[in-house]
Amino acid sequence: MHLHLPGDKSISHRALILAALADGTSHLTNLSPGDDVDATRSCLEQCGIRISAEGEVVIVAGRGGDFQTPDEDLVAGNSGTTARLLAGMLAGRGIQARLTGDASLSRRPMERVAEPLRQMGADIELSPAGTLPLELRPACLGSLTYTLPVASAQVKSALLLAGLASEGVVNVIEPVPTRNHTELMLQALGVDIQVSGDRITLGSAKRQMPAFDLEIPGDPSSAAFLATLAILLPDMELTFDDLLLNPTRMGFFRALQRMGGQIIWTGKRRAVGEETGSLTVQSSSLKGIEISGAEIPALIDELPILAILASQAEGVTVVRDAGELRVKESDRIRAICENLGSMGGQVEELSDGFRIRGPISLKGAAITTYGDHRIAMAFSVAGYLADGETALDDPDCVAISFPDFHNLVQRVVS
Ligand code: S3P
Repeated sequence: MHLHLPGDKSISHRALILAALADGTSHLTNLSPGDDVDATRSCLEQCGIRISAEGEVVIVAGRGGDFQTPDEDLVAGNSGTTARLLAGMLAGRGIQARLTGDASLSRRPMERVAEPLRQMGADIELSPAGTLPLELRPACLGSLTYTLPVASAQVKSALLLAGLASEGVVNVIEPVPTRNHTELMLQALGVDIQVSGDRITLGSAKRQMPAFDLEIPGDPSSAAFLATLAILLPDMELTFDDLLLNPTRMGFFRALQRMGGQIIWTGKRRAVGEETGSLTVQSSSLKGIEISGAEIPALIDELPILAILASQAEGVTVVRDAGELRVKESDRIRAICENLGSMGGQVEELSDGFRIRGPISLKGAAITTYGDHRIAMAFSVAGYLADGETALDDPDCVAISFPDFHNLVQRVVS
């Protein structure tokens, strides 16, 4: 079976933001249809950017970095990427804005982005807990050299987007590589940005960007859920066409290969600096592995579904150095361990990860999703592998990143 998945969520946010900053009209196809990307779109519209749709094509009328002060709060919903990237993008644009989020996003750390933006000169205030709401007032931004204390593509991207509005040079040093879509897209659009080892330098030479047309490749983080079903069910073969194959996002598929998963990657080509192509997975027997250190950022969003794979692999799988999972849409370490435990999994919670022994026969259970789309999708997949009934308390929260998830799972299993 061949599938063509909706556009990558990380690239979709960035495509909307860069199209808003560009001079002229951009055309985006296969934009992620999830609520998170909708939040970015609405916030940009509130800041005076006209965005319309003609069939499958989303048309963004870029204003070269000119934004209006929004009349109301900018609501980021559940989306950390919206909140953090927009904080950076708007910090030096001469407007006043207040960013808010839902209950989950309002618990997540924002000081990690506010603090370096203040070092650039931004006027930003957070709640006393360092969370949303984030109040932004007009300010002039200067230079920055900043080493990321936590591996975060959102913080890196926020600083580079802020840098586009500053007079100075911005250096971001990332000791552990994270997804590099912002750098690749800026480079492809001709912005003065250099990557050398662990240092990204946004020079002061060229900040204006031309409008662009982009077909967004399929989301490998969405593919991971369906690929898991194909790997674990008998006699399956599933191919994802036009999938994003950026190495900073392929950690899950690399880990799956190490576990013994049969994977073929073919037909690589480039779109706005990004590798895309086809990826085929086939039913496989798996063994446990250890995952830690610099491998983690390239599969951080896939760890909930990797835990399900681990429960079906021979031996022990250990994940370490993934403490960031505790500050995602939910405390994902807790949510994975609790839910897998209630399905009969042999799982031990670690401060920065988990240890899972397999293979075990999963049994159906009541799943608490915490409104977290990736917990919902991981345990929905687990439900298809389990004996007895599995019921999610909030199956609809998959719409945050992958509204068509339940339909596509049905197609794959039937
Ligand atoms: C994202 C970066 C990651 C990831 C999130 C999307 C991005 O978050 O977990 O789903 O698009 O930049 P962090 O930057 O917090 O690691």
